[in-house]
Amino acid sequence: MKISVVILAAGLGKRMNSNIPKVLHEVLGRPMLQYAVDAVKTLKPQKIIVVIGNGADAVKKRLSAEDRLSFIIQKKLLGTGDALATAGKELKKGAVLVLNGDCPLITTKTLNMLIEKHKQEKNIISFLSFADDSMPGYGRVLRDEKGKVRGIVEDKHATSEEKKKFKELNSGVYILETEALDYLDGIKKNRASGEYYLTDIIGIVSREGKRLNAYICPAEDIRGVNNRWELYEVSDILRRRTIVKLMDRGVTFVDPNTSFVHPSVSVGKDTVIYPNTYLEGDTKIGDNCIIFPGSRIYKSILGSGVIIKDNTIVEESKIGNGSAIGPFAHLRPHSIIGCNVKIGNFVETKKSSIGNGTKASHLSYLGDAVIGKDVNIGAGTITCNYDGKNKFQTTIESGAFIGSDSQLVAPVKIGKGSYVAAGATVTKDVPAGSLAISRVKQQNLKNWAKRKRIVQKSRSAKVRK
Ligand code: UD1
Ligand code: CA
Repeated sequence: MKISVVILAAGLGKRMNSNIPKVLHEVLGRPMLQYAVDAVKTLKPQKIIVVIGNGADAVKKRLSAEDRLSFIIQKKLLGTGDALATAGKELKKGAVLVLNGDCPLITTKTLNMLIEKHKQEKNIISFLSFADDSMPGYGRVLRDEKGKVRGIVEDKHATSEEKKKFKELNSGVYILETEALDYLDGIKKNRASGEYYLTDIIGIVSREGKRLNAYICPAEDIRGVNNRWELYEVSDILRRRTIVKLMDRGVTFVDPNTSFVHPSVSVGKDTVIYPNTYLEGDTKIGDNCIIFPGSRIYKSILGSGVIIKDNTIVEESKIGNGSAIGPFAHLRPHSIIGCNVKIGNFVETKKSSIGNGTKASHLSYLGDAVIGKDVNIGAGTITCNYDGKNKFQTTIESGAFIGSDSQLVAPVKIGKGSYVAAGATVTKDVPAGSLAISRVKQQNLKNWAKRKRIVQKSRSAKVRK
């Protein structure tokens, strides 16, 4: 069956009270519209048309170019019926699947169920409905005594009698044959709202005696986002679904209520995730890792047996097997950490590669550095990579030992196996195997403290007189 898809995404989203178009509001790190696109993509449609209007340029820009979407502008936002009619001109022959851009929980499984029913029953329109009338604001499906669908009435226009009698709600997901599209012309402007409601086509087609029906699907799948609270609810459902999937694959969540995991994240077996943790973007975490509380890992790849200690941030970085990072560490983008590396308290790295077995245990800044294997970076070491205009590289070869509180003024190279004495300011390359020392020779002034006290005493005596 050849299918085209129309996603309605032009609406204002007034109830969000936002300057951002509603469909761009994020659900676990991605615009909600992207979820609808992903769900329909798996059906391999001939074409995906997105009807845009409010914030059209921003919406176009934000969606992935790889999805090869066709955008169509609805100039005046005259309602869902008008939105589909606008897309009509672009449609190819065959059935059209229509869905709202504000329903990010829709699944391919549910869409396939609708398509199957539609084919089996040879309807000219089929749509999804659900049976949870505790959810406000949805259209109500009107059925006659025989159970035949007769129309849809919007919640805000439904009489109290209709509300009492009809508990089946409209999901906003429809499939229409080309023949049904002709009836779009018959939709009249709603007097109260001034909009053309797509839902009115159901009544029209029913009166024409054509085959149509609604099919119940899980209420969760078609939840719409109309305000900030619903944005939270939908995000929370997706968050839970994601965590349950990971638990089934062998991941422990100490408190799933306070872990925020994007659906794009993968986590290996027997990894333990502590509370108040954020795993975001295309993050991959290996087996047997521990992610301690307060950590955020964004778009990063962790090997197996990695320990992320409390309050650590890892962004767009890579960490090899068996390494331990934190507490209170910050791996900024493009930090490539080898295996069995230790990055300790208050260490910040940026655009640096750090070889296997290297340790930077305390209070360091390692930026634009290439650091070899088994290097010891003493507490307080700083790579001075920036002269106010340009960034420069520091190279530290394998086996080097950098004494505490050293500044390595880039560009500079510390040779293999060499030592930098504590407190050094290194401005010249250090050849392999040597010691770099740059400090004033220490003097010890004997009895200096006693002499100082005597001077102080006599001064204060004078002041009192
Ligand atoms: C709509 C349905 C309602 C259904 C609910 C399911 C209508 C009249 N009502 O209500 O029966 O229960 O969805 O979620 O269809 N849009 C446009 N152009 C417009 C107006 C809206 O593209 O001129 C888009 C919006 O961006 C949105 C979608 O259509 O993505 C639905 O619009 P919305 O205003 O959210 O409709 P609901 O009131 O939720
Ligand atoms: Ca809606």
